[in-house]
Amino acid sequence: MQPVIVANWKNHPASLKEAKSLFEATKKALEKAKGLSLIIAPPTLYLPTLVALYRGKRIHFAAQTALADDRVAQTGECTLAQVSDAGAEYVIVGHAERRARGETSESIRRTVASALAQRMTPILCIGETNRDESGDHFITLRDQLRSGLSEVPAGRVGKVLIAYEPVWAIGGTAPMNPRDMHEMAIFIRKTIYDLFGKQGLTQHILYGGAIDDRSAGQMLGLGDVQGLLVGHASTESASMTRLIDSLSKIQ
Ligand code: PGA
Repeated sequence: MQPVIVANWKNHPASLKEAKSLFEATKKALEKAKGLSLIIAPPTLYLPTLVALYRGKRIHFAAQTALADDRVAQTGECTLAQVSDAGAEYVIVGHAERRARGETSESIRRTVASALAQRMTPILCIGETNRDESGDHFITLRDQLRSGLSEVPAGRVGKVLIAYEPVWAIGGTAPMNPRDMHEMAIFIRKTIYDLFGKQGLTQHILYGGAIDDRSAGQMLGLGDVQGLLVGHASTESASMTRLIDSLSKIQ
C-alpha cells in the first residue's frame, strides 16, 4: 500500500471559493509526489463541488462523519448513503472532536459496520485523552477498538483504516515521538489480532495529531504507520504544499 495522507479540513476554509483554491494547490503539489495517495475530507457542503471538479484517480474523498441510517430523524446530519452519493468513498468515524461532543460508542460501531456494508471505507479514530505511567491509555485504546470493531463481520476488519490520534497531540505543535507511535502500532495490531486473528497483523494504521512538513516523513519512516491524518496543516495551501513536497523527497 502507498502511504496515504488524509486531509481533514474540519470546518475550513470559510468559503467555497477558498475551498476550490486549496483543492487546486493540493492537487498541484500531489502531481510531484508520485508514491502517495491522498484522501480529502472537506466540509460536507463542499464535497459535491470538489468531486465534480476532479477528473483524476489519485485523490479520493471522505466525509468527516455520517449517520449510519435514516430511520431516526436527525436535524443537521447527513447519512452514509448521502455522502456516498455525493462522491465520498471514505468516512471518518469517531473523531476525538466528535466523541467530545457526545458521539457514542454505539453510533461509532454502527457507522463502521454500515459503511463497510455500503462499500465505503471507514477510518476509525481512536486515541487517549491523556497518558501517564499507569499505562491506562492501553486499556482505553483496547476498549475503543473492541467496541468500534464489534459489528465488523469476520474477514472484513482489514478494510477498516485505524487512525490513532492521541487527543493530547491534536491541534498542537508537536506530534507524538515516532518511536512511541511504533509501540502503539504494535499494540493496535496485537489487539486486532486477539479479536480477529491473523488479519490483525496487516492492519493499516494511520497516525494523526500535529503533523506538518517537519514531522510527516519521520513519522512515516519510523512510526510503523501506513499513513497520516492531517488537520490544520492541510487547511492552508502553503503548509499542505510543504507537507506533500517533504514526502516527495523521501520517496
Ligand atoms: P491536527 O488535527 O493535525 O490539527 O492536530 C488532526 C486531526 O484532528 O485529525
